[in-house]
Amino acid sequence: MLHLIIEELKNNKTLNDKDFLRLFTEYTEEDLSFIRELAREVAVSNFGHGIYIRGLIELTNYCKNDCYYCGIRKSNLNVERYRLNLEQVLACCEQGYSVGFRTFVMQGGEDAGIKDQDIVLYIREIKKKFPDCAITLSLGERSEQTYQNFYDAGANRYLLRHETSDHTHYGVLHPAKMSLDNRLNCLHILKKIGFQTGTGIMVGTPEQRVEHLLKDIRFIEQLQPQMIGMGPFLSHCDTPFAHHPNGSFSMSLLLLSIFRLMHPKALIPSTTALASLDPKGREAGILSGANVVMPNLSPVDQRKKYSLYNNKAALGAESAEGLALLDKQLQSIGYHISYDRGDYEA
Ligand code: 5AD
Repeated sequence: MLHLIIEELKNNKTLNDKDFLRLFTEYTEEDLSFIRELAREVAVSNFGHGIYIRGLIELTNYCKNDCYYCGIRKSNLNVERYRLNLEQVLACCEQGYSVGFRTFVMQGGEDAGIKDQDIVLYIREIKKKFPDCAITLSLGERSEQTYQNFYDAGANRYLLRHETSDHTHYGVLHPAKMSLDNRLNCLHILKKIGFQTGTGIMVGTPEQRVEHLLKDIRFIEQLQPQMIGMGPFLSHCDTPFAHHPNGSFSMSLLLLSIFRLMHPKALIPSTTALASLDPKGREAGILSGANVVMPNLSPVDQRKKYSLYNNKAALGAESAEGLALLDKQLQSIGYHISYDRGDYEA
């Protein structure tokens, strides 16, 4: 039984390395229930039972990168590529706004075909039409000047998962021309500029070890991001990791709870990957301390093209059209949708 360690984590918001490693390697079902219970107590005491919603607009599936895990990697020739124009983006926002979204997340591959100036225009136009909304970007690694331009145009938040903070492991997941140092540098720049910044990892990627997870925990502890996104690795048939098993559901929940106990006020989504892995994944994430969900607002006919992994949930409660269903699912576990903008509050 690791209850003492788990209680210590809650009280001190950290543990020594040895105890973190014990938690990863020795936890039982019962320990998992216990840590999830404490994590949701912490979430509820900070956020109540309201779950923030973010409308996800998948801007482009063109990508110049070739990450070995990702379905929209450059080398995957089976992807039908698309990018949304301003009109399409604004239509997504319009639809989202009308059902209550007050955050729009523009996510996309690193697409050389959309100029920084185009993104700046998208941001400005969204801000003009929906001045009470927050804009989150998730558009990968860019220069400091570009990030600054996005910020000046009105973007408020930026998501950039570091994926793993171990250099060797980063090299297992990415081609040599991608660099962990650059990614981490981007995160520091984003924070410095003033973005509410999010980072995070996938759980169960090839060759991931508990020592890597420990490093991730320490990195996040140092960075103190406002948002922490994490989900299981899920294989995609057209990638080099096609035959690698999916990440573990229980390990994903354990990590989510650990992050909640360490970062009581962070915005932590119950991710699409979690919902894709298990039919009760979204609820399980919330019951492990998550306080955000990100339903899909992309045009329905494009959604299947944004396939980062196989069987990615994009319909039903995972979609903007399905908000009523989402709310019903949340109600069934004692929660509800919060229509607040849900900015980070220190
Ligand atoms: N399984 C799970 N998550 C994935 N992502 C990309 N590919 C996969 C996959 N195969 C995640 C990455 C990225 C985010 C947008 O999606 O962590 O940062």
